This record gives sequence, C-alpha cells and structure tokens, in this order.
Amino acid sequence: MSIITVANVKGGTSKTTIATNLVVALSQAGHDVLLIDGDKQKSAMDFTAKREETLGQVGFTAVELGGVNLQTQTLKLAPKYDFTIIDIGGMDTKSLRAALAVANIILIPVQPRSYDLWALPQTLEVINEARGYNPKVRVCAFITLADAAGKDNQEASDYVKEYPELELLPVTIVRRKAFPNATATGLSVMEYQPRDVKAVQEFESLLNAIGLKANAAV
Ligand SMILES: Nc1ncnc2c1ncn2[C@@H]1O[C@H](COP(=O)(O)OP(=O)(O)OP(=O)(O)O)[C@@H](O)[C@H]1O
Ligand SMILES: [Mg+2]
Repeated sequence: MSIITVANVKGGTSKTTIATNLVVALSQAGHDVLLIDGDKQKSAMDFTAKREETLGQVGFTAVELGGVNLQTQTLKLAPKYDFTIIDIGGMDTKSLRAALAVANIILIPVQPRSYDLWALPQTLEVINEARGYNPKVRVCAFITLADAAGKDNQEASDYVKEYPELELLPVTIVRRKAFPNATATGLSVMEYQPRDVKAVQEFESLLNAIGLKANAAV
C-alpha cells in the first residue's frame, strides 16, 4: 500500500495532470488504484467522467473527499488498494494538510517561473508542519510545464536545490500539447495518439524516479 499526494499551494502547476496520469499508468500496470479528488473544483472527477465516456470503464476507483474527512477516510480506504493517489487544489486548505499527513510520498510539481518559485516556501512550510506527525514521508519536487529550451529550467532546478528538505527528482516535464489533448478525452499521455514520444518519456522518467514502472508489476 502506498499513498502519493500531489501538492503545491500554487495553482495551475499540473497537479491534476500528474495525478491522473499516475493513476492511469499504475492501473494499466495491473495495480488496484484509488484516486482521491481532494479539490473542490473536482477536476480529477471530471477527468474520470470523461474517461468513462471515452472508454466505457476507467480501470480505477475515484472518490471525492475533503477536510478532516479526507484523512480519516483515506486511512480506511488505502489499505484496500495497491496505490492511492491524492489530487489537491492549489491552496492551503484542510484537505491539503490532511493529504500531507497521510502520504508516503509527496510530489510537488514546480513551474520554472518566478511566482511559482517564490511560492515554494509556502508549500514547504505546510509540508514541514506535516513532517511533525508524518516523519517518514518522502518529499519530492520536479520541474514541470517547463520550456523546451533556454536557461529557465536549470535556474529553477538550482533554486529548488537550495531547499535541502526537498528531494529534487531528475525529471523535467516540458509543456507539450499532448498533455491537455490527452486530458480532453480522459486519456493519459501514454495512451494518447498520435503518441508524443518525448512527453511519454518525460512522464516515464517521473515514474522511474519514484520507483514505479509504467507497464510492469511494481
Ligand atoms: N506538461 C504539460 N504540458 C502542457 N500543458 C500542461 C502540462 N501539464 C499540465 N498542463 C495544462 O496546464 C493546465 C494546468 O494543469 P492542471 O489543471 O493539471 O494543474 P493543477 O495544478 O491541477 O491546477 P489547480 O491548482 O487549478 O488544481 C491545464 O490546462 C493542463 O492541461
Ligand atoms: Mg488541479
């Protein structure tokens, strides 16, 4: 059993995109996966509904949970699944704090843009509080919505490295149209056709970095 929370107090950093792609990749690798939508906007549930419309069945279980309930219910439900992926909205909420408290792995997608980097200490403050009662949690950051070229990705990585409490994954997911295109039909970037090989490779590098594999038993 493993609980992975995708979090960042900053909005629009691809949290839901990463969470839903993770859920699909793990379920397609044969795992029993629970997706918890902890965001009032319910984007992960929207993705799930779209996937059902496209494929007829989604291949995982999805539920909405919020506030303190998110913590108690996750602890009840997670043991029944191989993986639980929690998607949280981009704000400091009770749901965010609950999702950080129960996680085995926290994934923080970071955009290589100034406002996003300046907001990182806010996310870390909440995570450092969570570490008080969840000391074993692995806290990982990676660069996402990155530029295809230029210095900003590297500069953002260097900025993240200044926070020793964060594990910077060797992962850069570039801004590629395949991600929103896949989402639009409820698919993962690994399923989307025409296949964007670079997008798939970048997403696979995230799976590898956290010890997961796309198409094999974990
Ligand atoms: N690698 C990518 N390339 C291009 N577009 C992307 C990529 N990742 C995410 N997006 C797009 O960026 C936008 C924000 O992504 P997403 O909704 O996943 O972010 P979020 O962090 O969940 O936002 P919120 O804080 O509102 O919950 C969406 O339109 C999504 O399709
Ligand atoms: Mg979201």
